[in-house]
Amino acid sequence: MKTCLVTGGLGFIGTNFIKYIAANRKDIAIINVDSVTYAANPCNIDEKTMTGYKFYKLDIANNDELGNVFNENNIDYVVNFAAESHVDRSIMNPAIFVRTNIEGTLNLLKLSLEHKIEKFLQISTDEVYGSLGKDGLFTEMTPLSPRSPYSASKASADMLVMSFFHTYGMPVLTTRCSNNYGQYQFPEKLIPLTIINALTGKEIPLYGDGKNIRDWIYVDDHVRGVLDVLEKGRFGEVYNIGGRSEMQNIDIITLILKKLNKPLSLIKYVKDRAGHDRRYAMDFSKITKELRFNPQLNLNDGLDLTISWYLKNEDWWKKIISGDYRHYYKTMYEMR
Ligand code: NAD
Ligand code: TYD
Repeated sequence: MKTCLVTGGLGFIGTNFIKYIAANRKDIAIINVDSVTYAANPCNIDEKTMTGYKFYKLDIANNDELGNVFNENNIDYVVNFAAESHVDRSIMNPAIFVRTNIEGTLNLLKLSLEHKIEKFLQISTDEVYGSLGKDGLFTEMTPLSPRSPYSASKASADMLVMSFFHTYGMPVLTTRCSNNYGQYQFPEKLIPLTIINALTGKEIPLYGDGKNIRDWIYVDDHVRGVLDVLEKGRFGEVYNIGGRSEMQNIDIITLILKKLNKPLSLIKYVKDRAGHDRRYAMDFSKITKELRFNPQLNLNDGLDLTISWYLKNEDWWKKIISGDYRHYYKTMYEMR
């Protein structure tokens, strides 16, 4: 039995990771540390279905409180999902990104070193590599060139993680993944925002000319890649995880509207995001060759699953859009 400390386990990807472990791996006990920001949902995890599950509501940047978690438990693995994760928010308020993504990661690294944990996995993003033109792919050797406060904070964290490998010989691993989509994603991100606005008859804000490109990966595929790296990855290495599904924003919104049988007139071109990265695309041949990882779902099938989840789980997202998110929606799009 291994004990895995997961941070950010009430957010989108952390929730899916914990559910995957609960369903498939009885040999891994989860300790979930989450400060429960706007992006978290305490109802996501049903504690009764999990053996050995513990939850701590705390900020990973708080040394004393996080230290108690390490003192109280025998932790083997740390997987760091906790982050401020939305680029638009980082443009409006970068300081919280520095606090959580950089200081929080440093705190977690220091405690993990002190407690001699077996493995530390940092969950990172393709956005640390910057922006691509029409051609080319990010590889693990692509120089870091972050362009938003969000990606700058994630790149800083990645470098701290690697510094603990070189300086202290700490057993660290890093994954960098493409844009995720799927169940439990907070509706500030493009795909759930499009689905929910379409269902509620609201305009869908499309930034700039709508031709920015992202590589999309279904969250379950990402979660499997994370577990592969945690169990079989080589220390001190970075592994890109991609979805092999590049698409322009206008095309993905159009596809979702067609699947929902909603009018394209809902699309509203709005002022572009400041410093908007043009294109992300991944070369993930390293994880494929070394760990035999490949994404299983194509974008079309993944979108069908995602749309049907949001249709079946209205309660989950209606609580969000009638609460804090309504205020956020106004400040972000109507006052931009
Ligand atoms: P999310 O915003 O949905 O969830 C983040 C979670 O972290 C929330 O539950 C929040 O409460 C928690 N959190 C925030 N600050 C905290 C703090 N100081 N202490 C403890 N908990 C805190 O994010 P997500 O989309 O699930 O992303 C998870 C990770 O994956 C992030 O590190 C992100 O950078 C990375 N990532 C995300 C994507 C994507 O497309 N969403 C792609 C690649 C990598
Ligand atoms: P987002 O989901 O915020 O992820 P990221 O910025 O981390 O890639 O945005 C995905 C793409 O969609 C990005 O090019 C910005 C664009 N976008 C819109 O056009 N409208 C929106 O309302 C949002 C949230 C994003």
